[in-house]
Amino acid sequence: MRIAAIGDLHVRTFVPTTLVKQAVDIEQAADVLIIAGDITNGGRILEVEIAAEFLDRIDLPKLCVLGNHDRRTTRRRHYVALLREAGVRVLDGDTVILPGFPEVGFAGVGGSGGGFWPEEAEPTPSNRAIQAMAVRARREAARLDKALNAMETPVKVAILHFAPTTTTLVGEPVVKYPLLGNSALGRVVDKHQVDLVFHGHSHIGSAEGVTPGGVPVRNVAASIHQGFSFHSLPLPVARHHERLAG
Ligand SMILES: [Fe+2]
Ligand SMILES: [Fe+2]
Repeated sequence: MRIAAIGDLHVRTFVPTTLVKQAVDIEQAADVLIIAGDITNGGRILEVEIAAEFLDRIDLPKLCVLGNHDRRTTRRRHYVALLREAGVRVLDGDTVILPGFPEVGFAGVGGSGGGFWPEEAEPTPSNRAIQAMAVRARREAARLDKALNAMETPVKVAILHFAPTTTTLVGEPVVKYPLLGNSALGRVVDKHQVDLVFHGHSHIGSAEGVTPGGVPVRNVAASIHQGFSFHSLPLPVARHHERLAG
């Protein structure tokens, strides 16, 4: 399975020409398009209409999760419906299997910040905002856990907006890490031995990483790849062995 992926388009008034050009004939290079959230910048209906018009022209199955910027919408149902009409399936704690690929299951949830204690970082100094984030982090991780519990395919892919590990955040200021993801997500993908995780949200992080349990993670934020990035499943054998050894 060939996967095209992108996150953090942050569409305001137009889709950048570079993205439009990259999207031409993308159907020849991929079997599915994954969008890891922050499709729009302000969650406004006008913005999602522009994004949806762009995405509608891409003739691939399209799966996305909502990012924190998408969540700014005050009209969530309409926002999601516009994406759906453009052929984009919004995963929010649910799973999907694509026609022609019965062995690969996708589970998606936006996730949250919250920090990477204890696996990968020191505890974040606690205040009310951090506590609220921790509550959200646990809730989102539980929803991902539930989705993966229901998944019976041999190959499992998780789509997130927030990061499940710090290893794809390299380049970001370390003080920002607690806002960029959390270890609860990492624990869930490790528990379910997920084969590949996609996330965005970290605009100046790094492209490739791995959870403490050895699950390969890809940060597909558009700014890191100058647009779309391309991936394939199964992963190269060496990497798979690395995972089993880990
Ligand atoms: Fe973003
Ligand atoms: Fe974001």
